[in-house]
Amino acid sequence: MKKNKRILITGGAGFIGSHVVRLFVKKYPEYEIFNLDDLTYAGNLENIHDVSSAKNYHFIKENIVNEKSVLELFKTHKFDSIIHLAAESHVDRSISDPMAFVQTNVIGTLNLLNAAKSLWKDNLEDKLFYHISTDEVYGSLGESGFFLETTAYDPQSPYSASKASSDHFVRAYANTYKMPTVISNCSNNYGPNQFPEKLIPLCINNILNSRPLPVYGKGENVRDWLYVIDHAKAIDNIFHHGKNGETYNVGGLNEWKNIDLVQALCDIVDAKLDNPKDHSKKLITFVKDRAGHDERYAIDASKLMSEINWKPSVTFEIGLSKTVDWYLSNQSWMQNITSGEYKNYYNKQYQTT
Ligand code: NAD
Ligand code: TYD
Repeated sequence: MKKNKRILITGGAGFIGSHVVRLFVKKYPEYEIFNLDDLTYAGNLENIHDVSSAKNYHFIKENIVNEKSVLELFKTHKFDSIIHLAAESHVDRSISDPMAFVQTNVIGTLNLLNAAKSLWKDNLEDKLFYHISTDEVYGSLGESGFFLETTAYDPQSPYSASKASSDHFVRAYANTYKMPTVISNCSNNYGPNQFPEKLIPLCINNILNSRPLPVYGKGENVRDWLYVIDHAKAIDNIFHHGKNGETYNVGGLNEWKNIDLVQALCDIVDAKLDNPKDHSKKLITFVKDRAGHDERYAIDASKLMSEINWKPSVTFEIGLSKTVDWYLSNQSWMQNITSGEYKNYYNKQYQTT
């Protein structure tokens, strides 16, 4: 592999992308890292302020839906690899506005594929289009079984349908144009810098503000949780050691019912704040279920673990504790992003006005 790579990372001001950018900028000073992000509601340069002045870091504000600009950027910067994370990522938003998901997740991905195809042409040596996807493309599991890389796609939400579509296009470009590609499909991430529309940071924020903790339906849906820094490390390993054309599932064998998870989170926050026992659990409120709510996700990551040297580095107990610590010591981060448009989203989603 070339030593001085020029890597385009999309969505690097978002939750997972910021951890990937930080890891690559610090670990590989010989690489030039270009972080392309349109800074939507989910993008926040504060997430990567600590690497913003590094010599090998460059920020580009652009919308991947803008075909011409994407092509120009490829011409100007001569990227030789892409790690593509930019996406609309929240299921509830995809239910109220599916077209935004088609635009960014499908058209945006195609614009990047076309720009890479056009610039890389027949010179595909040392090139890589690494597409970051989700386990949600596989649909919903019943009480047993796991998602394997060979599980048939069966997306059930507008979000997962748009991600599945983008995965199909990446594979089609690999097959048709011999584009060097890798895809990874990861389970639910948690950790520092996650936007408080997702379950864990939303509950932490609500506990801190003594607001109800909205649990959809009966809270019996199951998710498989992975610490975001472990996902970033998996992305690093797959980027460097993944085989051309392959798919890798990423997950930590860590399934939790939503209600059990929210209760565990309440206990951790209460312990850290010296609250009386069960103080925060009183805030748990069962609310109307999400439309088409997937019942259970569970990843079998044995291919990644056996073929590529990766396993999660933290237990859920430690990961959740570190996550709560981060949110407790970064309350101004939370206040900044919840002060504006977030209020409208929250009131609409949870009908609090
Ligand atoms: P996020 O919503 O926190 O961040 C998305 C980032 O993409 C933001 O910085 C946003 O500004 C940027 N973006 C959105 N639309 C854009 C556009 N049109 N042009 C340029 N930039 C744009 O998302 P995340 O949770 O960090 O997820 C990152 C990727 O990982 C996504 O592709 C998602 O599908 C995938 N993924 C997420 C999870 C999870 O649990 N969060 C799990 C598996 C896979
Ligand atoms: P979320 O963090 O939105 O991730 P995803 O939908 O991609 O799995 O939700 C995780 C689980 O928590 C999911 O089953 C929906 C549920 N949930 C709630 O019960 N209440 C909430 O307010 C949110 C945002 C999610």
